[in-house]
Amino acid sequence: MRRLNNCLIEKNSSLFPVWFMRQAGRYLPEFREIRKKNTDFIKLCLDSELASEITLQPMKRFNLDAAIIFSDILMVPYGLGQTVSFKEGSGPVLSTLNIEKFNKVKEKEFLDKLSPIYKAISLTRKKLSNEKSLIGFVGAPWTLILYMFNAKENLNILKNAKLSLILERLTEFLMLHIKQQYEAGADVVQIFDSWAGLLPTSNINNYCFIPNLKLVEFCKKNNLPVICFPKGLNKEYKKFLEIVKPDGLSIDYNIDPNWAKENLKDVCIQGGMDPKILLEKEEKVFSEVEKYLNIFNNSPYIFNLGHGVVPDTKPEVIKKVINKVNSFRK
Ligand code: CP3
Repeated sequence: MRRLNNCLIEKNSSLFPVWFMRQAGRYLPEFREIRKKNTDFIKLCLDSELASEITLQPMKRFNLDAAIIFSDILMVPYGLGQTVSFKEGSGPVLSTLNIEKFNKVKEKEFLDKLSPIYKAISLTRKKLSNEKSLIGFVGAPWTLILYMFNAKENLNILKNAKLSLILERLTEFLMLHIKQQYEAGADVVQIFDSWAGLLPTSNINNYCFIPNLKLVEFCKKNNLPVICFPKGLNKEYKKFLEIVKPDGLSIDYNIDPNWAKENLKDVCIQGGMDPKILLEKEEKVFSEVEKYLNIFNNSPYIFNLGHGVVPDTKPEVIKKVINKVNSFRK
């Protein structure tokens, strides 16, 4: 049985599946080893063999319930013609968006550029035990737009852009990207809206709820369980759930888990614990893990964090947390 799929679909409340956002990443020495020799991050994501190997690294070390494909949300802007580079310490930098070019990209061109990702997924599915889920993912349109316009520090940049058309076209390509991922063997999808919290209330519906809803409906139509992560929405998480209705809802570390239990019903809750807790003393880590497990006991809950594993995390701590979650299961 794939615990993650079962928890999302049957809403089975005694399974407590566990996986971590950024479980394949810089906190693992074996990842840093590969990364050292592959300085171009995008190229690394497009190396099917290596991307598959990296995806499986945490699966070899830990008893996780799911692998998440090693890739990036910015592969979609890359597929649509922008260059993407990662500079140490400054985050990703994308070339200026050329709207005319963006409007002309053909499906085939996009798929040709991204096909190594799909190949990495099918390679990984073949190597992964049948009991484990393989998570594909996309960035939500709003979060991608912030990167595509380099507007994260200055939302004014977006003022004169024809955002509704861009949102629509982007959503079409995201559906295509999701379709290719599940055809290659991904059996769960997570939608990352990491910067949903930057939206002014008056725009949340058009830029966050509606685009997420379109993607969720597409997944449901294809019987693909879907988890949404609209980070930073605070109390608007409730409205998000009412409108978007994903199978799983990933909460961030600013959400009070007791509030979530009380207000976010009929959904499988995921995550919540602050990733920085994992840098603290063992007793603190365990008491926090137990806090989440106790609060969500008797409801469908996926153990995860409120954002990605930070690079300073010790792999042994992750292992102990996973064992704790496993021992909590009935
Ligand atoms: O293990 C996994 O979670 C799967 C792979 C994955 C990566 N990025 C690999 C990665 C996933 C699911 C992502 C999603 C992603 N990428 C998001 C949404 C989640 C979130 O963190 O909010 C966002 C906003 C991005 C964009 C991105 N990619 C940024 C801002 C950065 C640089 C800063 C950072 O967080 O490291 C990346 C690079 C990146 N993506 C790395 C990894 C392992 C680090 C690469 C390196 O320098 O070695």
